[in-house]
Amino acid sequence: VRLGRLNHVGIATPSIADAVAQYRAMGMGPGEVFDLPEQGVRVCFVGQIELLEPLGPDSPLARFLQRNPAGGQHHLCHEVPDIAEARAWFERRGTRILGDTRIGAHGTPIFFLHPADMGGVLTEILESPRG
Ligand code: CO
Repeated sequence: VRLGRLNHVGIATPSIADAVAQYRAMGMGPGEVFDLPEQGVRVCFVGQIELLEPLGPDSPLARFLQRNPAGGQHHLCHEVPDIAEARAWFERRGTRILGDTRIGAHGTPIFFLHPADMGGVLTEILESPRG
């Protein structure tokens, strides 16, 4: 596998509205706020920061916020040219993959790698958006 550029840093927050207001005050223009119900999250990109708020108590992100009530850095996301090839490569190495490949916040396929196999960092692998 060959990881491409760092696409974004995922930040969990108990309130996207509050986080967006804070980033705006610091001079960063947020994008649209949108929901990914199948992943249980509300999302807003501020530059290369992906703000994430849980949509409900069953969201995996809700458990993260129980441990980190003020929010915090949640994951890093790297691009790859071919998601299926990347997944097969990590499977061959025995890197634990969390769940199925699914469509992520950029509209392209993603999967997550277990932090215990990635130097303590929850890692999102994203197929580069075309064009
Ligand atoms: Co992400």
